[in-house]
Amino acid sequence: MALIDKHVILEKSPTLLLAFSLSVVTIGGIVEIAPLFWLENTIEEVEGMRPYSPLELAGRDIYIREGCYVCHSQMIRPMRDEVERYGHYSLAAESMYDHPFQWGSKRTGPDLARVGGRYSDDWHLAHLIDPQSVVPESIMPSYAFLMEAELETDYIDDLLRTHRRVGVPYTDEQIASASADIRVQADPLGDWDGVVDRYPGAVVANFDGQDALTEMDALIAYMQMLGTLVDFSTFVPDASR
Ligand code: HEC
Repeated sequence: MALIDKHVILEKSPTLLLAFSLSVVTIGGIVEIAPLFWLENTIEEVEGMRPYSPLELAGRDIYIREGCYVCHSQMIRPMRDEVERYGHYSLAAESMYDHPFQWGSKRTGPDLARVGGRYSDDWHLAHLIDPQSVVPESIMPSYAFLMEAELETDYIDDLLRTHRRVGVPYTDEQIASASADIRVQADPLGDWDGVVDRYPGAVVANFDGQDALTEMDALIAYMQMLGTLVDFSTFVPDASR
């Protein structure tokens, strides 16, 4: 009897089949998971990554609340068509401060992992108010109501603290200045040196052009930083990992 025919013995006995299946899954599981405990670090650290500024973090919450992830992914795969369209493929480190991550699994619209800096603030504003005004064939819904929704800032330090609890390295200073920083980042006439010190590369602007701090400000601040933290003109992947 050839070895392959002995399979019949397994398939005829449920107990034996269960025992063998379990042992196969266990061996496979150990082979996949065990190395992670010995690797010093499963995420290659990359220069430039920093935690989200309070305004960006608030914008990210609105992105999640409005379900933008239902139509947009934030993960560029290392295939040529993706890299040519969207830019350098996404690195694990680029999502390391994302709780929960926003990789997504549906692309009704384009990937947004590197949309930061690709359009002006005004373009985003026009696009979010009325997508068809800038992309006539767009099927994206309007989010004009975000202009009227004042941004809730009372709990922003708690939000930072919560993210610290799950591993984002916010400092005491960042948490203490969060409720000031969230306003200052949307006020180009304010004293925003501190914000840019604490969050290098943060875009400071009155994103929606209104005096009030709105959810629109926060969402555009978030859009404008996506994928901008790592400088890919100097990035060299470490193949030894
Ligand atoms: C029903 C699906 C859908 C939802 C929900 C949706 N979008 Fe879109 N989005 C699209 C489509 C389709 C496009 C491409 C056409 C266009 O530019 O409008 C797009 C384009 C975009 C672009 C331009 C990307 C580029 O590279 O040109 C941005 C930025 C964007 N969406 C942000 C958002 C944000 C923020 C939200 C949530 C507030 C959102 N979208 C919700 C479908 C959607």
